[in-house]
Amino acid sequence: MPELNFEITGKDGLARTAKFKTPHGVIETPTILPVINPNIPTLGIGEMVSLGARAFITNSYIIRRSENLREKAEKNGVHSLIGFDGPIMTDSGTFQSHVYSDVEYTNLEIVEFQRKIGSDISTILDVFSEPDFSHEKAEYAVMETYSRMNEVPQGVEDTILAGPIQGSVYPDLRKRSAELMSSSQAGYLPIGGVVPLLENYRYDALVDIIISSKLNASFSKPIHLFGGGHPMFLSMAVLLGVDIFDSASYVKYARDGRMLFSDGSKELSRISTLPRWSPLYGKYSVKEIREMNAEERKKALSLHNLAAIFNELHEIKERIYQQTLWQYVETKARSHPYLFKAYRRILEYSEILEKYEDLSKKSTFFYFDRYSDSTPYITRLSNFSKSIGDGNPVILGDEHWHPGRPHERGLKAAYESSDRPFLLKWQNMLVPLELDETYPVEQIISAGGQVPAAENVTSLQETPLSETKLRDFDIHRVRTIADYQFGIGIGERLFPDETVVTRSRNTGRIRGIFLAGKLLATLRAHDGFFTLTVEGARRLKDACKAPKHRVMVTDDSAEFNSKGFNVFFKFIISSDESIIAGNEVLVVNSKDELIAVGKSVLSGTEIKYFRSGVGVKVHKGILQGEEKEPGPD
Ligand code: GUN
Repeated sequence: MPELNFEITGKDGLARTAKFKTPHGVIETPTILPVINPNIPTLGIGEMVSLGARAFITNSYIIRRSENLREKAEKNGVHSLIGFDGPIMTDSGTFQSHVYSDVEYTNLEIVEFQRKIGSDISTILDVFSEPDFSHEKAEYAVMETYSRMNEVPQGVEDTILAGPIQGSVYPDLRKRSAELMSSSQAGYLPIGGVVPLLENYRYDALVDIIISSKLNASFSKPIHLFGGGHPMFLSMAVLLGVDIFDSASYVKYARDGRMLFSDGSKELSRISTLPRWSPLYGKYSVKEIREMNAEERKKALSLHNLAAIFNELHEIKERIYQQTLWQYVETKARSHPYLFKAYRRILEYSEILEKYEDLSKKSTFFYFDRYSDSTPYITRLSNFSKSIGDGNPVILGDEHWHPGRPHERGLKAAYESSDRPFLLKWQNMLVPLELDETYPVEQIISAGGQVPAAENVTSLQETPLSETKLRDFDIHRVRTIADYQFGIGIGERLFPDETVVTRSRNTGRIRGIFLAGKLLATLRAHDGFFTLTVEGARRLKDACKAPKHRVMVTDDSAEFNSKGFNVFFKFIISSDESIIAGNEVLVVNSKDELIAVGKSVLSGTEIKYFRSGVGVKVHKGILQGEEKEPGPD
């Protein structure tokens, strides 16, 4: 099988932009493969490419069954048949067998045929698992599909094999199927058996299926949602880690006189104007489209529908770049009750999804309402706050909300004259005061929360204060931030009492953390978290046992990394499963000696699957000399 070289180019939680090689060119994801029926092409390839299509899917079963198409494809290849020289995926006839129950070819025959006609991604003849199948029947579909994958001779060099994940609505079976397919020679993993759910807008059930498939599949293989091309659900599917879709819906809906929009579909008979983005806008009036003959109308509406799909995809890609996909989904969920139902289901997985979220995002956090409380970032923060908020806390109201200016209204002095946790009322929760300059506590735009009345708490006014200084606010602040970043208790190990904290003269914010004249860490202005120096990394390494916070690299790679070069995935031997994407990691050699410190591109769960691209962006190697305090800002 050709090397896929699946490489991540950007990420937002489980959502990612990526690229991978096929024999006829690179596919950039997320993307949609428009379905081409070689018997009845509705739109020209050029028209579809101009809307954004860069790869297509067609059906090898349909080609093989027609003498004319088969001859042409066997002689000149599927690319010539379709008239497109870029990546083409072929499906196997499973869906036809599901609908018409008659497929006259065996798995091996249809895979061999796809290879022969030069398909870039060939699909085995999987067994379609219906949503209403019994567990037993669905299990048969999973196991039979797996054995059909194994029946294909290994080492076919000219096509990527697609191994569908089946298992109906049963999470245990989806998990098993995802694991089996990931371990097989399949380089590409479509989630199958979901068309009936998509057709019935059962997006909540799809959430369960996608999550149980995705989280148990290899993270370095593209995940495709078979038949999932409706623009309504695309953003949710991408949020959950789907990379590729196919869509016959642009033609199917057009045939029925229906138009796709990013929040649903509408009948042509019920709309008054065309949206400005539609390729039909300015060309035809709605009345003119209504009066077209059936064939013409189908073509016109197909064009509009495909544009709606690619528009949505375009928006999603930009959202991944800006890391605002979650906000987009949150907003979009309100556009249709079935989407909202699915969104609520997604929130039930927040504890799990949190593990794939970066330490912070590029964009400000939007807080809308109590549903925002269940989003992964708030879940992460709330878990942390609960774990350190015991011990008769002092509760601070909005009047104490002065990030970067703790000395105002005597707050710093009060803090230093008490030994109790100081918690800040923030949205619908209480967060440690020490985190007030970190993401998302500070980088938030909020519609406002209502903190429920807490029991057994004291307000600042009622707090008995000691005459003497009991603790230092700055030291506690940097320790708590370190605890959040690296685990509870690490802060104290990293920053002992003798630590010196320096502040920016311009902003008054903490910048450098020193010990015995050596810089240990700096606080990043954009998210309030630490970037470690080599000295700081040494202390972190001493504070936690292997493999915690470590990425172990080959000794060959270590030589380069020690000079400050990035770590490539292919040189990673092992890594800590609990690494948070975007967090500081210790690059160590095979003897667990510190080589460099950098920022992990992916979470610990994902790292081990990747072979292509940069895994750790190194900011300092051990051979690069001592760091100085950052210059004045
Ligand atoms: N097209 C839509 N659903 C499926 C599926 O489950 N398997 C295959 N091979 N193609 C599909």
